[in-house]
Amino acid sequence: MCGIVGYTGERNTVEVLLEGLSRLEYRGYDSAGIAVVADDAVASRKRGGKLKVLRESLESAPLPEGSIGIGHTRWATHGGPTDQNAHPHLGDEGRLALIHNGIIENFAALRAELEAAGEAFESETDTEAAAKLLGRAFRETGDLTSAMLQVVGRLEGQFTLLAVHQEQPGVVVGAAHNSPLLVGFGEGEQFLGSDVSAFVKYTASAAALDNDQVATITPEGASVVDFSGAPVEPKRFEVDWDASAADKGGWTSFMAKEVSEGPEAVANTLRGRLVDDSVALELGALDDAVLRDLDRIVIVACGTAAYSGLVGKYAIETWARIPVEVDLAHEFRYRDPVLTPRTLVISISQSGETMDTKMAVQHARAQGARTLSICNTQGSTIPRESDAVLYTHAGPEVAVASTKAFLAQVIGQLLFGLHLAKVRGTIDDAAIAEVVGELRELPDELRQVLAEQDPIKELAHWMSDTRSVLFLGRNVGYPVALEGALKLKEISYIHAEGFAGGELKHGPIALIEPGQVVFVVVPSPRHEPLLHSKIVSNIQEIRARGARVIVVAEAGDAAVLPYADIVLRVPLTLPMLEPVLQVVPLHIFALELATAKGLDVDQPRNLAKSVTVE
Ligand code: F6R
Repeated sequence: MCGIVGYTGERNTVEVLLEGLSRLEYRGYDSAGIAVVADDAVASRKRGGKLKVLRESLESAPLPEGSIGIGHTRWATHGGPTDQNAHPHLGDEGRLALIHNGIIENFAALRAELEAAGEAFESETDTEAAAKLLGRAFRETGDLTSAMLQVVGRLEGQFTLLAVHQEQPGVVVGAAHNSPLLVGFGEGEQFLGSDVSAFVKYTASAAALDNDQVATITPEGASVVDFSGAPVEPKRFEVDWDASAADKGGWTSFMAKEVSEGPEAVANTLRGRLVDDSVALELGALDDAVLRDLDRIVIVACGTAAYSGLVGKYAIETWARIPVEVDLAHEFRYRDPVLTPRTLVISISQSGETMDTKMAVQHARAQGARTLSICNTQGSTIPRESDAVLYTHAGPEVAVASTKAFLAQVIGQLLFGLHLAKVRGTIDDAAIAEVVGELRELPDELRQVLAEQDPIKELAHWMSDTRSVLFLGRNVGYPVALEGALKLKEISYIHAEGFAGGELKHGPIALIEPGQVVFVVVPSPRHEPLLHSKIVSNIQEIRARGARVIVVAEAGDAAVLPYADIVLRVPLTLPMLEPVLQVVPLHIFALELATAKGLDVDQPRNLAKSVTVE
């Protein structure tokens, strides 16, 4: 959850750290802090609140520039978001500074032991125990890397740690255990970060540490060892987007920018994977023989990614005729799912770091299942722990609320569903060609949806005092309803719930009273006449009880007109592709409503983009 950056080199270290933190702030924004080593002394500053509070403090009372440093943006776990609990924490009587992402589960025992040995603590965090331990280990070893290797053996839980010591100027040491850490390689300067956005402004050359490794960076280079101290050669890769992709540009929010990038996200996810009238996927270890032998698929994910998985279920079952379950990763992980080598577990994750999803993948692998990761972030952990990966190429997503990544996740699953169906012979070439033709149209169709935002904006402004909104859908429209509700509650703090239309009479209809606003996601009357008539019946049932109905319907669907207070139109496409278009007005609605309420749409309260603790 927390964001971490480390630097060694000639630049103004404070500026490099603040730049890195500004790009990592989406990971947590409860508090922030930095430490630099300058003139052989550690200087640090940390503040509760968003990064701008730290910036203001540094503007009014600057720290020395320094030549090495570490920076941290926090999502609070142990201890509230106060100045004291913000990182860095100091050890070795202020000669060492340490930052941490994750949770140290045995911190209470460590703290008691350290207090008994005379250490005084200033915060309520689990991190400070690691800082004190590292300080003592440094006094024994005189070397930060050796001290780190000693300390990691004493910690339980999951952590990324970065540390500097004033007696080793030029050196930053990082350790990773079940938590991400990447090295950025520069010329005469090196970086460490929780993800590449921490340093992509300065270098695109990166390597992700594997689990249980320690990296030591100096201006000349980086060396990596495993927790036993044995040297490891990090696997380098080039980041395929540049820093400007993660800038806000002229947009009022990252979320607005990212919604507008939906067409490119879809086009980039499709690029190179549609060949003539068919799909072409390279899935490494998941070759055709493995795919033919599968007897079941389980999709694991959280939040928005899990809703995209529900769309994937409909498509994969329809095309590849194989049973697909969708499980929330944290539920899957802590039950006893029936898995065999013929089960494929597909994890879906924008960040590739969601702890719940990662644990689900590990659980699946431990039981012999095959694993495929559908992921948006290069060098992240979940793809590295899976048999194969299908990257979504939606570009960096900074706003906490996921938008364009959802579209790309659906596309990734549609591509996989077609590929699987082709390999298993459950779909003919003409049917594949029809879907492929429609997939090619999607980016332009999304541009049309985006060009027609005005009615949605008006609606959002008109509804800014609304206290509750319901969303209904059927079939692939059901996950769209769930996603519309999640987005609204997440950024506008309005109570919202999504239901399957057929479920209405089994309870939720009791919520309908005069004036209740209900969004209804309507399937195509051309492709799904039966479903369409069912949802029109649902609309009549809620209208009869006084609901105000806003429908998302395909262009030309006249049958819904008599029953809708407002109609939001999307272009015609095939049923399995509809969610990609239908979800966009709901994303825009949530964005506009939260904006009308004057809320921070990019950093909604209590949330962080990358949920790296369970
Ligand atoms: C909602 C949202 C979250 C994420 C979820 C999974 O807008 O962004 O529900 O979808 O936390 O995150 P990833 O995809 O990074 O695993």
